[in-house]
This record gives sequence, C-alpha cells and structure tokens, in this order.
Amino acid sequence: MNILGIETSCDETAASVVRDGQRILSSVVASSLKEHSKYGGIIPEIASRRQIELISIVVTEALEKAKLDLKSIDAIAVTKQPGLIGSLLVGISFARALSFAAKKPLIEVDHIKAHLYANFLTTGEDAIGPKPKLPAIGLVVSGGHSSLFYIKDFLHYKLLGQTRDDAIGEAFDKIARILDLGYPGGPVIDRLARTGQNNDIHFNCADLPNSDDFSFSGIKTAVLYHIHDRKNNAAQQIPKIAYAFQDSVVTVLVNKCIAVCKRKKVSTLLIGGGVAANSTLRQRLIQKANEEKINAFFPGLPLCLDNAAMIAGLGFHLFRNNALKLKS
Ligand code: KG4
Ligand code: ZN
Repeated sequence: MNILGIETSCDETAASVVRDGQRILSSVVASSLKEHSKYGGIIPEIASRRQIELISIVVTEALEKAKLDLKSIDAIAVTKQPGLIGSLLVGISFARALSFAAKKPLIEVDHIKAHLYANFLTTGEDAIGPKPKLPAIGLVVSGGHSSLFYIKDFLHYKLLGQTRDDAIGEAFDKIARILDLGYPGGPVIDRLARTGQNNDIHFNCADLPNSDDFSFSGIKTAVLYHIHDRKNNAAQQIPKIAYAFQDSVVTVLVNKCIAVCKRKKVSTLLIGGGVAANSTLRQRLIQKANEEKINAFFPGLPLCLDNAAMIAGLGFHLFRNNALKLKS
C-alpha cells in the first residue's frame, strides 16, 4: 500500500511516498529556513507564502522520485496539527483538493506522534538491524515540543508529561540568538559544545522530581543572565557556555527517560524531533539505555527534522485501522 504524505507545519514544504508504513520510496523537503535566519526565528507569513509556491512542485517531485503516479497511491496523509496555522492550512487545503480530484481517501495525522514514528521507517539500505517493538516510551524534543508518551500501539499514545514553559529546541534557539550564533541554534550549539568541556561554568536545569514534565525556561534565563553579566567577555566563553547548557539539559532528558522506562517496565525508548539530532543526547542516551538494558532508537538525522515520510508512515496505520473498522 502506497501512502502519499504531505507536511507543512512550520517552515518546510515536504512530500513523501511510503510503502506499507515502512519503506520510504521518496522524501522531498524544501525549506525556507534561510529566508528566516536573519530574523532569528520563523516568520509565519514568509513560511506560508513560500509553501503556497512550493507545494505542487514538491508533491510532483515526490511522486516522480517514487516512480509512481497518483493512480498508484492508496491514500493521502497530511499533517493536521500542531503548527503554524497559515502553514498547516496550505498543506491541508492542497491535500483536500487532491484527495477530492483524485478520489483518494484523506488521513489527518498528528505531527508530534509522527516524529516518533520516524523510528520505524527504512530507506532500503538500513533495512537490516533491530527494529523497535511496542509498547515503548517516546520522547519528542523539537522546536515547539518536549513531550513524553507511553505508546501502546500506533493508534494509542498516552501523554505522560510535557514542558511547562519553553520547548527544549526553543531554549537552544534563544540562547544561540543572544550569543549571535544565528538560527536555528541547536546545530551550532551542538558543534561548539564539543570544544567547551569545562568545570567552571554550570547551569542548573529543573528536573521536576515526581513529575514527567519538563521545564527549560529557568536554565534559559540563567544562561541569558550569565551572558549579560559578562558582556564582552561572553564571546570568549561561548563554547563553554554551550557545553554547560547542553550538558545540564541532556542530563535531565536522559535521567527522565530512563526513570519512566523503568517505572512503566518498558524496554523500548523512541526519540524524535529536531533536537534528537543532538550528538550529545544521542550518545549519552544510548549509553545509559544500554547500561539499563533498554533499547533506545533515534531516527537517522534527516528523519529527526520535519519531513513527510513520518506523516505517510503513521498515516498508513490510521488508514488501515479505518478500513478495518469500515469492514466490520
Ligand atoms: O522537529 P523540528 O524540525 O521542528 C519542530 O517541529 O519544531 O525541530 C527544530 C528544532 C530547532 O529548535 C533546532 O534548533 C533543533 O530542532 N535542532 C537541534 C539540533 N538540530 C536541530 N537541537 C540540538 N542539537 C541539534 N543538533
Ligand atoms: Zn517537528
């Protein structure tokens, strides 16, 4: 079964064809990120205008790369929420029109849950190797979300905890902005932190014991005050600041994920979202999970970021479930 996925929740315009919820036949992502970077964050109006221009081109390219035409598509899956309202509208309107014109069923998919589904996708070359088993604990860490789920199966995700204030990616982005490192901040902080290992700077990240929630606004403010207090000196300290911030937030994420897996007696941990590309998070979580006999899975780097393959992949299961319901 071939599902065409469409994703336009933030600055990306993405389309993909996925076979049987697993094999990526094509995945096209066009980003307007460069047009936003000079403003230090995403400008919704610029994002949705670019998406209107790009959507038809991107969907056509995804079909061409998959070597399929619309007739061979079984259903169209589109991101329903959450995201920028104008951007979501472009994808949903396009998908609805296409579904009507081509007489293909339309499936609406949740973007956050789809980030975790990215762990089940293969490109062909990576088909060998252990695949995640459910139930699992899922951690979504992105520019807009930091959430923990209990995933019973692809249709049942239970939210266990989420950030009470800033999303983790937002904290990376705001700190990079104040340090004049550009947007998005995650990749550059990740890179700079590699040369900043130190014992003289420490920032505390709230770990909210007895709760599965997160809080990142306190550490973000502590970093901002540290930078303001040092003014010109802060520039020399940038790698150390990056390391100290990243070290504390990664420690909280790792400890919380492992604690939840143990409490729920679940031995599979799925990570997803843009911050899942962070090299320290990947390395420390995999190491700690190994020690605790938990199997931790991260998607390949392109699948951590926003893409339409994860929408098509999860869409396959929702479609199949609807079809089964109609039959019975
Ligand atoms: O999932 P995503 O592409 O978009 C949302 O759904 O929000 O995530 C984007 C976020 C940005 O905040 C970006 O700074 C962060 O992911 N990010 C990273 C890294 N690569 C991207 N954060 C930390 N380390 C990275 N290597
Ligand atoms: Zn996302």
